Amino acid sequence: MKIVMLMGSPRPTGNTATVLEMVEESLAAGHEIKRYDVAQLNIIGCRGCYACADSPNEPGCVQRDDATGILDEILGADAIVYATPLYMWGVASDLRALMERHFCLVKTYGSPAKKSLVQGKRIAMLVTAAGPAENNADAIQTVFDRFASYCECEVAGKFVLPGCSVTEGPGEDARTLAGRLAEALTVESSIH
Ligand SMILES: Cc1cc2nc3c(=O)[nH]c(=O)nc-3n(C[C@H](O)[C@H](O)[C@H](O)COP(=O)(O)O)c2cc1C
Repeated sequence: MKIVMLMGSPRPTGNTATVLEMVEESLAAGHEIKRYDVAQLNIIGCRGCYACADSPNEPGCVQRDDATGILDEILGADAIVYATPLYMWGVASDLRALMERHFCLVKTYGSPAKKSLVQGKRIAMLVTAAGPAENNADAIQTVFDRFASYCECEVAGKFVLPGCSVTEGPGEDARTLAGRLAEALTVESSIH
């Protein structure tokens, strides 16, 4: 499979990056993996100009920044992992900006002619959080489900790792969770 990993923490060697590395180590050999440290790139949010609506078969975003190349990679991928620290109960802002830019991948939203250029791709979310999953990382999972529905992608799973402190590193269950994510992403029967 061709897998795109989007690492959304501004800390390049922090908890999210560490767990994402574990996911990569857990994946069987033979997958083509591309990873982007989104916060190290130049990506701004959607400007709402709707120019992309004039391009029915391609992204057509008129903004020229690092999102352009990543969106092209996503179009050619089988699976995408959206990895983020939990920031204020949501997705960290750099990855959030890139997720907004997926707007150009879905055409004529709200009409029967709606078409997603990423339909059927498998996506997973990885969240590292200092606090618990309950009453903390709930809204982010709802948003991810809505995002998947909008993009017409298949959710391979949403994986929340609680207890990730900046001083102590990722929680002790990190490797197990990373293995589960890798399996869900690549095993056909694991779709739920
Ligand atoms: C701006 C900011 C907001 C945060 N908001 C939350 C939060 O809402 N819930 C939570 O459990 N942890 C929160 N945290 C803690 C981080 O999500 C957690 O430590 C995470 O593992 C950091 O990931 P990183 O090392 O990859 O940057 C926040 C941290 C920062 C810096």
